[in-house]
This record gives sequence, C-alpha cells and structure tokens, in this order.
Amino acid sequence: MKGILICGGSGTRLRPLTEITNKSLLPVYDKPLIHYPLEILLKASIKEICIVTGPEHMDQIKKYLGSGERFGCTFAFAIQEKPAGIAQALGLAETFAQGEKICALLGDNVFFDDLAPAITSFQAGGHLFIKEVDDPERFGVVEIDSNKSTNQLINILSIEEKPKKPKSHFIATGCYLYDERCFDIIRTMQPSARGELEITDISKWYMERGELSATMLHDEWVDAGTFESLHHAACLVKERSS
Ligand code: G1P
Repeated sequence: MKGILICGGSGTRLRPLTEITNKSLLPVYDKPLIHYPLEILLKASIKEICIVTGPEHMDQIKKYLGSGERFGCTFAFAIQEKPAGIAQALGLAETFAQGEKICALLGDNVFFDDLAPAITSFQAGGHLFIKEVDDPERFGVVEIDSNKSTNQLINILSIEEKPKKPKSHFIATGCYLYDERCFDIIRTMQPSARGELEITDISKWYMERGELSATMLHDEWVDAGTFESLHHAACLVKERSS
C-alpha cells in the first residue's frame, strides 16, 4: 500500500497565517501539522509517500520533509497546479501508486485513534473513518445502516458533501483507503457545483457497488482548517503529551 498526503488548498480561513506558509506546516503545539497525518502512515508501516501540494508551497514542503530519511520513509512530490479538489489532487498520484492500494490523508487532519489496524487489514473497495460531530454540514456526511453495522465495521447508506440539511451527525474524516480502481473513477468524474472533483464522489462510487466499509472513531479528531480548530488540536496534543 502507498501513502498520499494531500496538502493543497490556499488555507483562506487561516489567513494571514497561510499568506506564505502552507497550512500543513503551521504549528500544532510542538510539531508542524503535517507530522500528525504522516505518523498515521508510518504507524501503518507505509514507507512510500507522495505529497501533493500547490506550486506556491512545494519548495517549503520539500525543504521541510527532505528525502524522508529522518522519518524512515521515502517521499515523492506531485504539484496540483490549481485547487481543483481533493479527488483531482489524488489523481495526480496515479503514476506514483503503480497499481497498488492507497491510503490518502488530508494534511490538516489530526487523529487520536489508532488507525493502523484498519489500514493494514484493508483488502479492496473503499474504507472510511467516521466521526460523530456537532457541525456535520461542514463535511462529507454519511448515513449509517445501523441494522448492518457492528461496533467494528460500519455499513454506509448514503454520503453527501457538505449538505445543507445533513441526514446525520456522522461524517467522513480525511483518511481514505481505496483500491487501485480509484484512479479510473477519478478519470470519469465531473466537477461539483463548487468546481471541484470531490473525494466524496469516489467513496459514493464504491458505496453504490456495496464495496464501501468504514470504521467508527471514538477518540478526538480535528480538521485543523480554522483558527479555533488549529488551537483546539494544539491543546489536545499538549494535554496528551504531558
Ligand atoms: C474535506 C472533504 C470532506 C471531509 C473533510 C474532512 O473537506 O471534502 O468530505 O469530511 O475534508 O476533513 P474540506 O475540509 O476540504 O472542506
């Protein structure tokens, strides 16, 4: 399995912090944000990792991460010329993936659960990591089939990107496991109303074929894309490290 860290976007909600610096290099207590999704991949023994980011941030990310030697992995880099969506960013890693399964992580997500068991046991189809939140309309919202779900494995009935009227409080966090077909799916996709190729549409493709599963997260999870959530992530990390 190969790892893909998606660090695109212009981080508008974090200006002026992101005026020069990529969001994923902003501090979360004692480390830049990118360390947290990176550690998820390393913990799952994924050693080949592709970083996708915009042209304006590639140099600083490369300079910070280096060859990967100090993390015990190797890095490849792919440039997303325009912020055309997470799925479009993922598509740029197709050559890198070489027909293997992938674990794609968003560069601004901080997980406190151990995702390694689900990542290492993933076989085929798609797999999401679900979290219950108070503000589902900000995320990809999933509806769960409680009759077919167990504590370990969740069955998903529907998935919608940032719906005005969310069908539940459960959302897809920024860690996605897909088999090699995800790249064929991306090639057939059309941009959403906001002009982006949505990662949610990849998951939907697997769901419609009964090939999407999910794990429920029980510990904290933060999408650190706002001042408030970035600060919250730092407080949680400090709390856990002392
Ligand atoms: C993205 C995805 C969304 C997901 C979220 C998790 O949204 O589009 O489905 O729930 O990440 O962090 P964004 O934060 O890019 O708006």
